[in-house]
Amino acid sequence: MITLKGNVHYVGVNDRAKTLFEGLWPLPYGVTYNSYLIADEKVALIDTVDVNFFDLFIEKVREVIGKRPIDYLVINHMEPDHSGSIRLLRQFYPNITLVSNKKALDMVEGFYGVGAQTRAINEGDTLELGHHKLRFHMIPMVHWPETMVSYDLTDHILFSGDAFGSFGALNGTPVDTHMDTTLYWSEMERYYANIVGKYGAPVQKALQKLDGVFIEMICSTHGPVWTGENVAKVVGVYDRLSRYATEEGVVIAYGSMYGNTQQMAEAIAEELSVQGIRKIVLHDVSRVNHSYILADLFRYKGIILGAPTYNASIYPQMEMLMSEIEMRDMKDHYLGYFGSFSWASHAVKRLAAFSEKVKFEVVGTPVEMKQGMKDSVRTACQELAKAMADRLKADR
Ligand code: FEO
Repeated sequence: MITLKGNVHYVGVNDRAKTLFEGLWPLPYGVTYNSYLIADEKVALIDTVDVNFFDLFIEKVREVIGKRPIDYLVINHMEPDHSGSIRLLRQFYPNITLVSNKKALDMVEGFYGVGAQTRAINEGDTLELGHHKLRFHMIPMVHWPETMVSYDLTDHILFSGDAFGSFGALNGTPVDTHMDTTLYWSEMERYYANIVGKYGAPVQKALQKLDGVFIEMICSTHGPVWTGENVAKVVGVYDRLSRYATEEGVVIAYGSMYGNTQQMAEAIAEELSVQGIRKIVLHDVSRVNHSYILADLFRYKGIILGAPTYNASIYPQMEMLMSEIEMRDMKDHYLGYFGSFSWASHAVKRLAAFSEKVKFEVVGTPVEMKQGMKDSVRTACQELAKAMADRLKADR
C-alpha cells in the first residue's frame, strides 16, 4: 500500500508494455496511469486506469479499503487511459456515485453506457468526505473539454488530471522525494509538446485559475507525485511551455533521400556554429520520431526546415511535421527554410505556403538546390544561417 498522506493513497499503475501513447508517441520509459484513493468517512476514488490494468488496479484498491465500498468516483478527465475502468468498476461497486461535470458525465454514457447514478458538479462546488473536502475547478481543454481538477482543501493536494503530467513509468514509489527525478523533467516537456501542446491558451487560463491556491502536493494522472519546491518548478514548466516561451537555439529538421539535402542542413549548422549559436539540433525527419522533434521545437526559438521535392510536392515526412506544427498553434518562432529538386521545383514552394500559414517570422532568403551541392548553394545556406544567427543574437 502506498500512502501519500494520512488516508490519501496512490493506486495507479505502471504501463511498461505500451510502445506508442495514443498510437503515436514513443514510450521508451513507459507511462503511468495514476489513480488516487481517499479512504475517509466516505471513500472517494479519483480517476481510474487503462482497462487493461483493471485486475491490478482493483487489487490495489482492495489493499487499502478491504471490503468497504467506494462511495464516489471523481472523474477529472474522460480520456480512456483514465476512464477505461469505469464500466468494470461499476460492476464491482454497483452503488458508486460518479462525480463530475455534465460534459464528463455525458461522455461516461457515450463511451461506456453507464452514465446513471451521478452527481453533477459545477465550478467551485465541493464534496465532503469527512476529514477531507474536495473542491472542483474546470480546466477545459487541458486536455479535453470536460477536464477539471479536484483540490483537497484539507491537505492542499491538487489532483490535476493530465495537467502537470509526464511520460515515464515509476521506478519505485510515486513521490518525487523518493526518486531521482531527472528523467521526468525532459519527459514532461515531451509529454506537453506531444499531448497538450495545442492548448497553450487553455493551460494559461487554468494556471490563472489556480494562482493563489496553496498547493503542497500535485497528483497528476501521469508521472511522479510532486511535492515541496518541485510544485512551483512543475507549474513553471507548464507556464513556460504554454506561453510558447523559447530559448536561443536552432532546430534544423530536414528530409533527405540520398544525402544531398542533408548537405544543405550540415552547411547551415556549421555556419550557425561559426556565428556563435551553441544550441543547434539536427533532426532527420525520417529517422527521428516527431515526438522528439516537437519537444525541441517547443524549446528553441529558431526553426530551419528543409526537404526535397517528392511526387510534385514535398517529402512526406516533412509534410507530416509541418502538419504537426500547424496543429499546435505554435507561436513566436523564427523560421528559415530550404529545399531541393531534381527536375521540377515544388518543395520550397510548399515550405513558403507553410511559412505564411503559421505566421512565424521568416528570416533569411530561402535556399533552393537543383540536384547536387555547389558553391553557390553552399554560400546561400551560409547566408541563411547567418541571418538566423543575427536574428537570434539581436534578442540577447
Ligand atoms: Fe492522460 Fe488526456 O489523457
